[in-house]
Amino acid sequence: MNKASGSTGSKAALRAGIALALFVVIGVGLFLADVQNRYLWVKALHVIAVISWMAGLLYMPRLFIYHLDHEVGSAASETFKVMERRLMSIIMTPAMVLSWIFGLWMAIEIYGFHGGWLHLKLAAVLVLSGVHGYMAKAVRRFAADDRIGTPRSWRLLNEAPTLLMIVIVILVIVKPFA
Ligand code: HEM
Repeated sequence: MNKASGSTGSKAALRAGIALALFVVIGVGLFLADVQNRYLWVKALHVIAVISWMAGLLYMPRLFIYHLDHEVGSAASETFKVMERRLMSIIMTPAMVLSWIFGLWMAIEIYGFHGGWLHLKLAAVLVLSGVHGYMAKAVRRFAADDRIGTPRSWRLLNEAPTLLMIVIVILVIVKPFA
């Protein structure tokens, strides 16, 4: 990785870190302060976290596909390792944790954990979290130059978050099996 792209990457990481810290402060403030419309604020933060998480889940397989195009030990391969690690640790994992925290708060406080749509949604989100776990494992394997998957298998895996997202959004908006 050259110096210029290294410092650009560090700045991006710093900006993402600041955004994350702000997000956590607002989230903690919401739970502690006596805020009107807390539910709507929590829902807004939930949707922001979910969008960030989904962006990573949809982009990561693309990175693996480009990574597989480059030889082990090449400069490009090393750059992809940094991009994958940063995407996973600075964006995807914090966004997943925050999606769960805000989502579970609403599920318990607002819906008392009741509703077929909610249970189905949680099942779909658990599968999505499993896909996240598999990608986290792949990031570690690619970092050790012990690559897993083929461009075709990563293209196929790319469809899983898309299909799950469609199911999840329909369940939470339409709320069938109430
Ligand atoms: C991580 C675990 C998750 C839990 C526990 C959870 C739970 C919830 C709950 C209880 C609500 C409030 C529903 C309402 O009041 O109308 C909600 C809203 C929402 N969730 Fe999640 N959710 C999770 C993940 C996701 C994911 C992965 C997506 C998208 C792919 C998503 C998309 C949404 C959307 C779009 C809303 C707003 C719905 C509306 O305003 O009508 N959630 N979620």
